[in-house]
Amino acid sequence: MSEFGDFFRGRRLRRTAALREIVRETALHAADLMMAYFVVETDDPTFRKEIGAMPGQYQLSLQELEKQVEAAVATGLRSCILFGIPKEKDYRGSEAYNKDGVVQQAVRLLKKRWPNLVVCTDVCLCEYTDHGHCGLVRQGDTSGEVHNDPTLSLLAKTAISHAEAGADIVAPSDMMDGRVQAIRRALDQNGFSHIPVMSYAVKYASSFYGPFREAAESTPQFGDRKTYQMDPANRVEAMREAAADIAEGADMLIVKPAGPYLDIIRDVRDRFDVPVAAYQVSGEYSMIRAAGLNGWINEDAVVMESLLGIKRAGAGLIITYFTEDLLRKGLVK
Ligand code: PBG
Repeated sequence: MSEFGDFFRGRRLRRTAALREIVRETALHAADLMMAYFVVETDDPTFRKEIGAMPGQYQLSLQELEKQVEAAVATGLRSCILFGIPKEKDYRGSEAYNKDGVVQQAVRLLKKRWPNLVVCTDVCLCEYTDHGHCGLVRQGDTSGEVHNDPTLSLLAKTAISHAEAGADIVAPSDMMDGRVQAIRRALDQNGFSHIPVMSYAVKYASSFYGPFREAAESTPQFGDRKTYQMDPANRVEAMREAAADIAEGADMLIVKPAGPYLDIIRDVRDRFDVPVAAYQVSGEYSMIRAAGLNGWINEDAVVMESLLGIKRAGAGLIITYFTEDLLRKGLVK
């Protein structure tokens, strides 16, 4: 009891940096962060193109990807997720499951040089279809109808081709119903029962994906993704998506986007006993980066705070385009 009254003095433990450090509840570590890369199938081995809406992020040839990852591994990179941009696209996304597709080649290259780097692949058709949808559309049909069940075997084939190339984790992001089960079964039947599925279980139809679609050249040519990705207004439904994916065999779940969906990350963390990842998506990256480049915010501090918030909400792993920068600057070790 103090002579000034008996009240909580929170400032006692904030008095010095050392005191603040010993009572800190959340910390970011290098292993919490997963970098995302865009790899392009091209005849120009030195191809390297900055993405207009994502300053500091690049479309890379295989050779440039290798250089980029080399530098990142030297600063402590633990894991990455790969997105491919093929030369040719068609209505059924054939390049997604081509054994010698660009992502499959990238996985082989990275795993050969860095066996301890966790290499994860995004399993989806949208970067490989000429119409830009994540599932099958009948040839010539522009109504926007995406056919669920016929897509499943193609996603399974894609996942197997990634596992054959040496991927450590496959991450389906298409949001077709039943795809986790289809992929799990196919992996098991093909000798990959040891390969985990990290499912984008809770993926919203978000406007924050805009810059990614430029990066991955995957903008839908007609319609939108609202018939398969979730309505941003829904929270209860997210629990059903998560439960369904776990029942189908998902080993880890992703909530996406991250920053505007912290309540969902917390709900999933509290309700399900699997590792939870969150994806700080392209639009979240671009907004922070743009404000940083304009000198309107302290970018490093805002990035750290945004990621701390995502981790505090319950994400154990964060997919973020800031991973490389943070490691290089020593802000995360
Ligand atoms: C593929 C996919 C998308 C993202 C990850 N995987 C795009 C989309 O669904 O439109 C978005 C990632 C980002 O915005 O950074 N389906």
